[in-house]
Amino acid sequence: MTNEELTTDGRTESDESTYDSASDANADPDGEPLVEQSISVEGSDERSTPTNPETVIESRGLDVFYGETQALQDVSMEIPEKQVTAMIGPSGCGKSTFLRCINRMNDLIDIARVEGELLFEGKNVYDPDVDPVALRRRIGMVFQHPNPFPKSIYDNVAYGLRLRGHTEDLDQVVEDSLKKAALWDEVKDQLQKSALDLSGGQQQRLCIARAIAVDPAVLLMDEPASALDPIATSKIEDLIEELAEEYTVVIVTHNMQQAARISDKTAVFLTGGELVEFDDTESIFENPANQRVEDYITGKFG
Ligand SMILES: Nc1ncnc2c1ncn2[C@@H]1O[C@H](COP(=O)(O)OP(=O)(O)OP(=O)(O)O)[C@@H](O)[C@H]1O
Ligand SMILES: [Mg+2]
Repeated sequence: MTNEELTTDGRTESDESTYDSASDANADPDGEPLVEQSISVEGSDERSTPTNPETVIESRGLDVFYGETQALQDVSMEIPEKQVTAMIGPSGCGKSTFLRCINRMNDLIDIARVEGELLFEGKNVYDPDVDPVALRRRIGMVFQHPNPFPKSIYDNVAYGLRLRGHTEDLDQVVEDSLKKAALWDEVKDQLQKSALDLSGGQQQRLCIARAIAVDPAVLLMDEPASALDPIATSKIEDLIEELAEEYTVVIVTHNMQQAARISDKTAVFLTGGELVEFDDTESIFENPANQRVEDYITGKFG
């Protein structure tokens, strides 16, 4: 792992020092607050009361620009805790952009600019006293293409904990995380094998195990199954439903059936970066309020 740059789609990893700033996303065993004590600005740790007590993430009037181009327009949404929220919509409508706002991965894009509010547990993640590295420990991310490190299965899962100086009970955390990611039975006898020798579906579950090893509150997944075959996809779908018992899951997908199958809430973005409808998944797919949403989900465009 040398001399590669971290990218916001997670396709490549950096050398370890650079990668730390993103894998830290998956790296806090203690469930620390998103504001590190050491950098907390006195009196500035103000939190807004979420409109709904079960809301864990809330965007309020969120606009995102890449240079002159606006990618998201006035997006307001409340994402409930310990449920699966799906984001759907045509290519380029801003789904990945929204996901990357939540754990400030857009910070890694020089020309990206965010306006409005994005609250996590009532705290605006764009407040100046928020440490994005600490934030990403609480809000892990899984990408379209599995990106395990060229290390053993064990070392991949233990990575975030070791980064934080933990040396005890690693075996137990590795086992628990692999179990939660529904991978343990397949790899328990070969933990020292290279992660790169696993199948694509196994690698993706390993990346999920790596993300949950540090005990985040939220898992962001950007098309996590779109590079996988139907059987591997089905395993990931089952896994996501199980994960939502413990974590808040936000998933971007192009697969409408997948969104309908596994999500509790669905957000429909349409071209121009507008959130057109956000509701219970059943309502979106069975009785959408918006004609453009109906046209989109019935395949009339997009
Ligand atoms: N790094 C970037 N630099 C400049 N413009 C960008 C960048 N990333 C995204 N955009 C632009 O922002 C808009 C939204 O892109 P985004 O990747 O969020 O869409 P998406 O809904 O995830 O699309 P897809 O379904 O194809 O993944 C697009 O117009 C895209 O061209
Ligand atoms: Mg995308």
